Amino acid sequence: MRILMINGPNLNALGKRDTSMYGSKTLSEIEADVVAGGKELEAEVLCFQSNSEGDIVDYIQKQTPEAHGIIINGGALSHYGLSLRDALVDTNLPVMEVHLSNIHARESWRQHSVTGSVAIGVIAGLGWRGYLYALDYLVQHIMHGSE
Ligand code: DQA
Repeated sequence: MRILMINGPNLNALGKRDTSMYGSKTLSEIEADVVAGGKELEAEVLCFQSNSEGDIVDYIQKQTPEAHGIIINGGALSHYGLSLRDALVDTNLPVMEVHLSNIHARESWRQHSVTGSVAIGVIAGLGWRGYLYALDYLVQHIMHGSE
């Protein structure tokens, strides 16, 4: 089973960027944790980060034929990235959306996610562990459906 873990703009700065909001782990550390978690679940996790919406759309289109599910934290694109949303819909793959912070407790413009509405589930506010919880659910969902 192959899972794509995609992070959007500014998430490459994790570890330096507002650590009280996003935690002190770097993206490389989080990715290593999720890859290791994937191995335990017999899932290969491919990680990708870009600050550009178009690059993320290109990556999704290229990788979709060989993938079984997607974990995405689109960063600010989550709130307005309609071409990212369309690309996710076009995959027909199950998507789990993750936010490190609790977007529902922040500015009103952050409380709506255009990509979250095409995900099977959204995890927000649980920090880096949210990616591992998303992986666990996604693998179960791919193997057994939503039961
Ligand atoms: C974020 C929340 C977004 O509003 C913000 O733009 C980010 C990170 C999160 O993980 O909490 O870049 O997606």
